[in-house]
Amino acid sequence: MAGLRITGSTRLAGIMGWPVAHSRSPLLHSFWLEETGIDGAYLPLPVRPEHIEQALRALPILGFRGCNLTIPHKQAALSVVDRVDPLARRIGAVNTIIVARDGTLEARNTDAYGFRENLREAAPDWHPGFGPAVILGAGGSARAVVTALTDTGVSEIRIVNRTISRAEAVARDLSTAATRITVHSWGEVSRVQRDAGLLVNTTSLGMTGEPPLVLELLLSPSAPVVDIVYTPLETGLLAAARRRRHPVVDGLGMLLHQGRPGFEAWFGAPVHVTLELRAAVVSTLALPR
Ligand SMILES: NC(=O)c1ccc[n+]([C@@H]2O[C@H](COP(=O)([O-])OP(=O)(O)OC[C@H]3O[C@@H](n4cnc5c(N)ncnc54)[C@H](OP(=O)(O)O)[C@@H]3O)[C@@H](O)[C@H]2O)c1
Repeated sequence: MAGLRITGSTRLAGIMGWPVAHSRSPLLHSFWLEETGIDGAYLPLPVRPEHIEQALRALPILGFRGCNLTIPHKQAALSVVDRVDPLARRIGAVNTIIVARDGTLEARNTDAYGFRENLREAAPDWHPGFGPAVILGAGGSARAVVTALTDTGVSEIRIVNRTISRAEAVARDLSTAATRITVHSWGEVSRVQRDAGLLVNTTSLGMTGEPPLVLELLLSPSAPVVDIVYTPLETGLLAAARRRRHPVVDGLGMLLHQGRPGFEAWFGAPVHVTLELRAAVVSTLALPR
């Protein structure tokens, strides 16, 4: 990739996190900036938890168009911004901040969009009629995935989580008239899978440096298996699913798709997830950060 040329009118965006050096978002947005030829820059912004309010309020003062948020700021920002869009409010977390013309801050959550677009692209035959969806995990990303699936029309979602109270909170907050959400312990993971039409891992199990995800797959091989963990790209869960000939959906596509709405809002051009973009990001996944 050629070097960035910063000018007096360069449009600015970035990602706030603590830590933030591991984030692939600067690479992703820099790829799109170069592809579109837009005079813009997207920067890693290491912001300590105790500084998130000051940092967000500084965005319009410094001329930033907005930013992404990652751990640990996704919930804290809800009480700082001027407007939270209804989807982000339902999910209870935000990952995209847009600075309006009047300098006010609008917050969105694009993780649900990223999940849905990735599933549509990587498992095009899947539809809500396949049957209940099993979600492993009840953290922040699980809330985005559950919201995406309720909005897609899945009628039953089964959440399996270590901490039952956390899963119960997801069920309470995100159940709708059309989608029943039930809560299960890991001891029930075999039973709840058998007639399922989709399985999604949203826990950090299986991620590099975390314990492995130990799970015997029992659902029909026609059911897609999704892992939102993308380091490594091919997790143990996806390798096992591939051996059983499930459609498999890795987590990188979700990361790439969730970036599109932010880019379009800050820099004013539509962008796409292409094989070239994937290859550019994949080439960094094996590198230590
Ligand atoms: N592809 C993408 O775009 C994307 C987007 C967001 C996140 N992610 C990935 O998704 C993963 C989860 O992120 P998050 O923000 O949802 O994290 P989080 O809010 O911290 O939730 C972590 C989840 O993992 C479970 N968990 C962690 N360690 C466990 C263990 N030893 N045994 C059983 N369960 C365990 C937690 O269970 P408890 O509730 O019992 O603690 C919880 O359900 C991370 O690997 C992250 O990188 C990917």
